[in-house]
Amino acid sequence: MTILLINGSPRKHGNTATLGERFLHDYPHTTIHLADHPLHFVQDHRDTALPQRDTTDDYEQLMTTFAQADDIVLGTPVYWYGMTGQLKVFMDRWFDSYTNDFDFAGKRVYLLVVGADAPQTKALGITQAVQHSCEWLKMTFQGTATVTADGPGDVAAMTDLPGSYWQLAAKLHAQV
Ligand SMILES: Cc1cc2nc3c(=O)[nH]c(=O)nc-3n(C[C@H](O)[C@H](O)[C@H](O)COP(=O)(O)O)c2cc1C
Repeated sequence: MTILLINGSPRKHGNTATLGERFLHDYPHTTIHLADHPLHFVQDHRDTALPQRDTTDDYEQLMTTFAQADDIVLGTPVYWYGMTGQLKVFMDRWFDSYTNDFDFAGKRVYLLVVGADAPQTKALGITQAVQHSCEWLKMTFQGTATVTADGPGDVAAMTDLPGSYWQLAAKLHAQV
């Protein structure tokens, strides 16, 4: 089982990154901070003769790592009640891969969401977007762990985490 953590926060040592590393503490994994990588907005070339791909940024390199993973943990802070632009741009680019027959099928996806303002109820759109995208790409959506936190050290200071975290952790553990 190969595990990949993708941190969609611009804070490389913030709550999302900390939560992701905590979630995967017992498992060998690779971590990607999207903030480290230039990623262009997706283009929609369907009505042109241009190829549906952009090789001038880091996307294809990131997808080489993605291709090797069986279990993918997506982490994002809540930004304006949605996912961060970093994660949205990365997921938009999945359209390039989809168009070029990238094999998404069967990968298991776990979602970590961290927000300050009642994210359990106000950030449900993130789960919906990821869940439906997984269905479209034939990946298996394993669920969401949602944590309320704001300051950069909040998650690190938590002695316990909510039930959604432990439920998702159990799903990951069941794959080992
Ligand atoms: C630009 C921006 C927008 C934010 N919007 C929301 C929001 O809509 N809802 C919310 O609950 N928290 C919001 N927050 C708070 C972050 O989700 C929160 O600070 C989170 O813990 C940051 O995670 P990180 O440390 O991994 O970056 C926002 C923070 C920033 C910087």
